Amino acid sequence: MEAPEKNFALEIVRITEAAALASARWLGRGAKEAGDGAAVEAMRVSFSTMHIKGKVVIGEGEKDNAPMLYNGESVGMGDGVALDVAVDPVEGTTLLAFGRPNAISVVGVSPAGSMYDPGPSFYMQKLVVPREARQVVDLDAPVSVNLDSIAKSLGKSTQDLVVFVLDKPRHEALIADIRRAGARIQLHTDGDVAGALMAVDPRSEVDVMMGTGGTPEGVLAACAIKGMGGEILARLDPQSYVEKEAINEAGIDIREVLTSDSLVRSEDCFFAATGISGGDFLRGVAYKGKHAVTHSLVIRGKTGTLRYIESYHNMDRLAKFSSVRY
Ligand code: FBP
Repeated sequence: MEAPEKNFALEIVRITEAAALASARWLGRGAKEAGDGAAVEAMRVSFSTMHIKGKVVIGEGEKDNAPMLYNGESVGMGDGVALDVAVDPVEGTTLLAFGRPNAISVVGVSPAGSMYDPGPSFYMQKLVVPREARQVVDLDAPVSVNLDSIAKSLGKSTQDLVVFVLDKPRHEALIADIRRAGARIQLHTDGDVAGALMAVDPRSEVDVMMGTGGTPEGVLAACAIKGMGGEILARLDPQSYVEKEAINEAGIDIREVLTSDSLVRSEDCFFAATGISGGDFLRGVAYKGKHAVTHSLVIRGKTGTLRYIESYHNMDRLAKFSSVRY
């Protein structure tokens, strides 16, 4: 594999900033597609300025239903390092549409051929833990056993833990198990990339993320976790017969336990996220008249360097030359 020599995270953050700036105009306006569309368009334009030979592995879906940033699409100027690209222009489209916290724009990249291709899989069971607990968890262990082990490795009691769970009917039994084990729970309607990142971020009160969410979101989270430390254990968890059959037909092993290293098979990975609606994880876009302020996190997998970037965008100047309408 060709190893990228530069820190692409510092380039892709311009892309997540552009998507966040464009989509945050739709905060709370009840228009899910419009908010997502604005972010996709901004991302597509921004990618076209990058000197990379990018291939979208995690995108907006199949070509037939996604006009841009579809799986398999080439992005970038086509003249640089060959990279696999994962995008989620708005992670949490409903959060954005209803003005709820933690909608973010995210991009991950890694050397060509190194990113897990989810094929027809939509859903994946995930267990995300901080660095201290990475050796002590097992996807097949009972919830209470995992929680006790995580608590022990963090030097606290199970009652101290906060578990991030998506508030979905499919998690009824999981939530009951967590409650029985005595841990505390944060229920979120959407946004398990932010949930995964909060679980590995020592600054957050969230200690663990558990439950089933999107498979593409799992790959994106892995891009970040490789640099932040911590671990994601995951397994495909089809939510319908059709999804299960499609996975079997594609020859994908449904029982395989995936980790950050199998979801992204290279340390040369990069991740950037910019807040759209403000939340515990990243502050949202603030339009201040002449300028707009964004907050982003950029991560380099190999070195584990995390940078929190606060950017001031001059809206008048941007309006003069940018092909994206902010
Ligand atoms: P979107 O931005 O595509 O709406 O995804 C939001 C999200 O909550 C993800 O964070 C999560 O992985 C997935 O949806 C869960 O899917 P579902 O809402 O179908 O349970």
